Amino acid sequence: MKIGIYYFTRTGNCKRIAEKIGEKLNLEVFPIKDDVDWTGFKAYFKFQSYAKGKKKMEITYHDTDKFDRFILVSPVWGSRMPPTVKLFLENIPMEKVDMVVSSKMDKMRGIEDANRIVHIKQYSSGEDEKIEEYIKTFA
Ligand SMILES: Cc1cc2nc3c(=O)[nH]c(=O)nc-3n(C[C@H](O)[C@H](O)[C@H](O)COP(=O)(O)O)c2cc1C
Repeated sequence: MKIGIYYFTRTGNCKRIAEKIGEKLNLEVFPIKDDVDWTGFKAYFKFQSYAKGKKKMEITYHDTDKFDRFILVSPVWGSRMPPTVKLFLENIPMEKVDMVVSSKMDKMRGIEDANRIVHIKQYSSGEDEKIEEYIKTFA
């Protein structure tokens, strides 16, 4: 089984979580990048136009072909996945994906088909414990 760890981040939480998982599983970690400026408060207004398909974006990421399973670390945006992550998943079946989700307090909706779902919420404690618990599923 070849596992690819990918993450999308705006403020660094998903990068940190992905790197912790990568370190524990001894696997490389790859960013998913887009061509949108998400800095500042405007991101909260902007993302809906991309989510609804009114605006188009380009994304770039390390080739996924050699992987047969994925760990995808993503923030929650408006209770769902950011449009960047949605685009990344267009060519990957959800049953091959473990979704590791970072949010302030909400769960991510629309990912019920994922192989595994891990929610890490800032308003509850225990990021490291959640990661540890998840890593145990690989033993
Ligand atoms: C546009 C936007 C929408 C968000 N919507 C939610 C939400 O609906 N529920 C929630 O709990 N957190 C929400 N958040 C908070 C992020 O999910 C949270 O801060 C996450 O840890 C950010 O990860 P990052 O640092 O990797 O970008 C939102 C953040 C942004 C920028």
